[in-house]
Amino acid sequence: MPNRLDLPSDFRWGVSTAAYQIEGAVDEDGRGPSIWDTFAARPGAVRDGHSGAVACDHYHRYAEDIALMRGLGLDGYRFSIAWTRIRPTGAGPANPAGLDFYDRLVDALLAAGITPLPTLFHWDLPQALEDGGGWLARDTAYRFAEYTAVVADLLGDRVPAWITLNEPFVHMVYGYAMGIHAPGRALMLDALPAAHHQLLGHGLAAAVLRERGLDVMIANNLTPVRPASSSEADQAAATAYDALHNRLFTDPILLGHYPDLSAFGVGPDLGGSVRDGDLKLIAGPGLDALGVNYYNPTRIAAPTDPGLPFAEAPIEGVPRTAFDWPVVPDGLRELLTGLRDRYGAALPPITITENGCSVADEPAADGTVSDPDRIDYLAGHLDALAAAVAEGVDVRGYFTWSLLDNFEWAQGFSQRFGLVHVDFETQRRTPKASYAWYRDLIAAQRARRAG
Ligand code: FCB
Repeated sequence: MPNRLDLPSDFRWGVSTAAYQIEGAVDEDGRGPSIWDTFAARPGAVRDGHSGAVACDHYHRYAEDIALMRGLGLDGYRFSIAWTRIRPTGAGPANPAGLDFYDRLVDALLAAGITPLPTLFHWDLPQALEDGGGWLARDTAYRFAEYTAVVADLLGDRVPAWITLNEPFVHMVYGYAMGIHAPGRALMLDALPAAHHQLLGHGLAAAVLRERGLDVMIANNLTPVRPASSSEADQAAATAYDALHNRLFTDPILLGHYPDLSAFGVGPDLGGSVRDGDLKLIAGPGLDALGVNYYNPTRIAAPTDPGLPFAEAPIEGVPRTAFDWPVVPDGLRELLTGLRDRYGAALPPITITENGCSVADEPAADGTVSDPDRIDYLAGHLDALAAAVAEGVDVRGYFTWSLLDNFEWAQGFSQRFGLVHVDFETQRRTPKASYAWYRDLIAAQRARRAG
């Protein structure tokens, strides 16, 4: 029996995916290469040499996948649009066949009673733009706004709310500072212009969306930061890490200024990339909703490496996912109440745009997939969410990551996050026990809504 949650009657239930992780069909209908095609082809970059070339073949199987979503009874579906299907080189004329795919996807979702929630950038930058500097180049922000206008003109009559960027923090740190994601650059603190230019891209795209009467969101990866001890050194390290992970991509939008990054030896111009007027543009009139992607808290201690003002410390004594991420459901309540306390009236309503866990799921002899650990994870996090709502935080929706097992970036196909199992040899989809659990939960919440 699913738990009953005390949530607002118009609370919205969804699932999330991203283009490169599920679509496949990378050479079809005029799609141009993205940085993930290039990166995955680099020997050793992705576990087992995997790539998103086929992934879940969603490009051809989207109708079957929407039927699975309809079976869940979802209100919304968060997916991402592949920039290189729309503008194969990141600039120049739009590609009609690429536009047509998202046109059909949106119509099929609406016919199934599901509201589409597109993300404009989920890490698959056109390779041609990377060749010009990627997000280290200011120009990329302007190309992003142009691409936004093309898709908003096509879909804006049917799609009310849009997410500009997915997790700009992770993209900057993994992609530009550490080189473990595309584009594979290891610049450490010299990656910071990729923060400012992504935010500038957000601000420019937000203006394009607003001109068309559309709602604007961003999906930030946020984590409650816990100092490893009450020592001054550990607390200072935690404050520095919090500024980098949580505040860097949220303060400029909600408060109109960058956080204090002096612990990193970085001034308010972020390595010289901020120009007059940029912060005003980035803040604009704020956000219609803040998308929060939450997976786990972070424990931080004083630095051990002289290059950085913090060190990550393990969280002990809690269960761990197949990815070895600690499972701390109450971290979600801590995060949400912390956002409310930090931003006060400047905080817009929140939607959880990702939350979920990877489990080493395999079908049993009878073909069923039992994933009690995922059900526990989701149930625990939804209880924590409801607790935050009871404490007065305005949370309007929850989108679990993910509908399908998919291409998990540098981990290839080794991490399964789906409510639906995918056999990557045959493309057979098998709803897991968590699929039925989520379906029943949504139905029970809806019955409360109706009653
Ligand atoms: C997030 C990403 C998403 C997925 C999950 C597991 O950081 O936004 O694409 O990989 O993690």
